[in-house]
Amino acid sequence: MLGCWGGTHCIVATDYLEVNREELRRWVRGDPGTFDWSPFIQHVCKIEGRGEPWQDKQLRLRSRLRRILPIDVHRPEPLGAPLQPQADALLSAFCLEAVSPDGAAFTRALSNVSSLLRPGGHAVLLGALGESFYLAGSVRLPVLPLDEADVRRALHGAGFELRRLRCYVMPPELRTGVDDVQGVFFVHARKPGGE
Ligand SMILES: C[S@@+](CC[C@H](N)C(=O)[O-])C[C@H]1O[C@@H](n2cnc3c(N)ncnc32)[C@H](O)[C@@H]1O
Repeated sequence: MLGCWGGTHCIVATDYLEVNREELRRWVRGDPGTFDWSPFIQHVCKIEGRGEPWQDKQLRLRSRLRRILPIDVHRPEPLGAPLQPQADALLSAFCLEAVSPDGAAFTRALSNVSSLLRPGGHAVLLGALGESFYLAGSVRLPVLPLDEADVRRALHGAGFELRRLRCYVMPPELRTGVDDVQGVFFVHARKPGGE
């Protein structure tokens, strides 16, 4: 999934699968039975330390998540048309390595999604290191196993300016058996240009 923050502080969320987009729409509407994000929102309020009630943040998030669009990161135009205005920031979590068959496709996907960002815009990327599969129910889905050097090379190849890269080894207590992930990377990168 990808999220983009536009100049009007609106959030654009995207996913390849209609079922995932529908789940997001149901959460925005507040339908019963959707995934409960409140523990995560409460945690964010706690670490931000501004005393903001989590219910206010949840309401604001729902009201700003205005567009939920289909995406294919393998297309040069991932949304099928340019995003207007281009986003100030883009967040992608555990997506590109899960949908790319090899390093070249991963780099191209990064370059494709950078077209959604304005020059000078920020990309925050989270992903798996050393993962070759994950289980979705009983289905085993392949993942491109990356190491830190692969991530650096791909960012450079896609034209991003790397600001910060942190890699963590997955502690044994978080190895739950649903995948063979070895670690996690966190990236802050910038699209060149702009102010
Ligand atoms: C491993 S899941 C990660 C989901 C979520 N971001 C998370 O952190 O749990 C990979 C996601 O990539 C999406 N996806 C699959 N093919 C894609 C494509 N070609 N372009 C963009 N997203 C794709 C899937 O629908 C799924 O939501």
